[in-house]
Amino acid sequence: MITESKILITGAAGFIGSHLTEVLLKNDNYLILVDNFNEYYKGKEETLRGIIKNYKSKENYNLIKGDLLDTSIYKQIDKDIDYIFHLAAQAGVRYSINNPIEVIKNNVISTTKIYEFSLQTEKLKKLIYASSSSVYGNPSYTPCDEEHQKNPISPYALSKLTGEIYADYYYREYGIPITSLRFYTVYGPRGRPDMAIYTFYNLMLQNKEIGIYGNGEQLRDFTYISDIIDGLILAGEKDESKGEVFNLGYSNPISVNQLVDKMYKITNKTKKIKYLQKQKGDVNITHSDINKAKRILNFRPKIDIDEGLALQYHWQLAFFKGSKKYIL
Ligand SMILES: NC(=O)c1ccc[n+]([C@@H]2O[C@H](COP(=O)([O-])OP(=O)(O)OC[C@H]3O[C@@H](n4cnc5c(N)ncnc54)[C@H](O)[C@@H]3O)[C@@H](O)[C@H]2O)c1
Repeated sequence: MITESKILITGAAGFIGSHLTEVLLKNDNYLILVDNFNEYYKGKEETLRGIIKNYKSKENYNLIKGDLLDTSIYKQIDKDIDYIFHLAAQAGVRYSINNPIEVIKNNVISTTKIYEFSLQTEKLKKLIYASSSSVYGNPSYTPCDEEHQKNPISPYALSKLTGEIYADYYYREYGIPITSLRFYTVYGPRGRPDMAIYTFYNLMLQNKEIGIYGNGEQLRDFTYISDIIDGLILAGEKDESKGEVFNLGYSNPISVNQLVDKMYKITNKTKKIKYLQKQKGDVNITHSDINKAKRILNFRPKIDIDEGLALQYHWQLAFFKGSKKYIL
């Protein structure tokens, strides 16, 4: 576990960032939290402030409300940080299709600014870059190991791959200890409202029809949030992860139809499903080969889809009823 360190987390108010913030605050670190609380979905600022309130000790954080594109915010960040977890991005494959410029700004230019900033740091141990399984596109074999050919089929996937290529450049040319992590469809409490599991539960709770894109036979390697947080911290800790790329997934994909069956069982609601046109940018299968992460990081995902879906439902039901806003 990373402890008693000074850590910059970008995108701290987002789904993954808020969980990482919570765990690192609990473990006696000093956190510099940066987020522009973008309008992609609501409630982020409230969530992050709620988490901080729970775990705040005297002086264990500095919350900077700012945009990574704005050069002046870097003056507010200490240079003696130990770690950077760069999670800020414009997420969403489908959103990226109609907003490619916004995606380049928030995912490529912002990321390059973070890498440039890292050149000014004095004792950085690790910079973790949040990449994505989407870089593989439609795979030619599965499970995909890290060497699999990259065929991005959306501006989002392209932007994530570009961030990795820059990471490699800053590692080789400047020795910045960067590690790229390719996350696979992350879900769990405080999950992003644009993602399938959140959307489906939300509609089920209202007894409304859910819409499945395509025929529902597309396979996804759904990965529970606490496993991703474990992977992030392990990658931060391990010196051998420098200059490397790792898949972080549960490595046991199921189809969207199977997912929905499980969700209806958990909610005990009557099935109401319509099938919609397949979306541009959606791949047919994601399936991680995590042998490299197991070997080098000792990454061991623990939460299977049944347990993870129940945990998310438990949270989302409470959230839906208004009794919980951010707490696990
Ligand atoms: N959730 C997933 O399934 C998944 C899968 C693969 C990769 N990722 C990557 O993980 C990271 C976190 O994803 P998430 O699901 O938590 O997304 P999220 O949208 O919940 O969080 C991203 C955060 O970044 C902030 N942000 C965006 N642009 C910014 C900018 N220019 N300056 C400052 N803050 C900015 C947003 O306000 C938001 O709080 C992203 O880099 C994403 O691409 C996520």
